[in-house]
Amino acid sequence: MGDNKTQNAAGEQAKCLPRHIAIILDGNGRWAKKRLMPRNAGHLAGSETFRNIATYCKEIGVEYLTVYAFSTENWKRPEEEVGGIMKLLDKYLHEAIRDMRKKNIRMKVFGDTSRLSPELRKLIAETDEISKTIEGFQANVCINYGGRAEIVRAAQAYARDYAAGKTEGELTEEQFSGYLYSAGIPDPDLLIRPGGEYRISNFLLWQCAYSEFYYTDVLWPDFTPQELDKAIAAYNRRDRRFGGVKG
Ligand code: IPE
Ligand code: IPE
Ligand code: MG
Repeated sequence: MGDNKTQNAAGEQAKCLPRHIAIILDGNGRWAKKRLMPRNAGHLAGSETFRNIATYCKEIGVEYLTVYAFSTENWKRPEEEVGGIMKLLDKYLHEAIRDMRKKNIRMKVFGDTSRLSPELRKLIAETDEISKTIEGFQANVCINYGGRAEIVRAAQAYARDYAAGKTEGELTEEQFSGYLYSAGIPDPDLLIRPGGEYRISNFLLWQCAYSEFYYTDVLWPDFTPQELDKAIAAYNRRDRRFGGVKG
């Protein structure tokens, strides 16, 4: 682990801070159901939590936050729910375009945007352009994202470059990583899944090879900076060996 020291929400000194945190935003539907509200009310609450947690990550010095917001499998949900999520994305992207310079937050979308509406694609292109003018904290939002689809897409892009004679030598892991959405970004140190499920659900399959996993029953809309501190504290108790022996 690095020696990136920080203060957490409780004012305690954390031993070491993950450079990159990934979160599966899960539990919005159950949060709403518990309150006898429609599922989309849970997605709205979840989007507010994302805003708070992204701000907190930036404040404490995390460099990258990658969140799973909509998977390649989530299209199976009722049309009304998918439509509601797309509306929320539209609202969120408009706000991001308004605020990202002021807040100094770069934003990238990971995923196949070709299935999204032209309006959403235009907003995403705009956030990409603004991000080029900003340095520092980066939020990656995974939309119509699947880990397997990402790997296949990377393989196809490599095959095209190979056929065009644009690559040299044997393909390495490092080179292959350069074809993923996460090109140039360090792998997540810590992967958090709120919502009580113990699975990866097709998230960052390549990048999580050595991430530390942290699961909690807290539903995403209820997730707070204190919960993030707990996850970071748990991360600090882990011994990351990367296949080696304890130092
Ligand atoms: C995660 O919350 C958000 C998306 C997958 C879009 P869910 O909607 O999966 O919430 P639960 O798992 O049903 O509670
Ligand atoms: C994972 O949550 C996908 C996102 C959070 C975007 P799901 O709720 O879709 O995952 P499963 O169905 O429980 O595996
Ligand atoms: Mg879920």
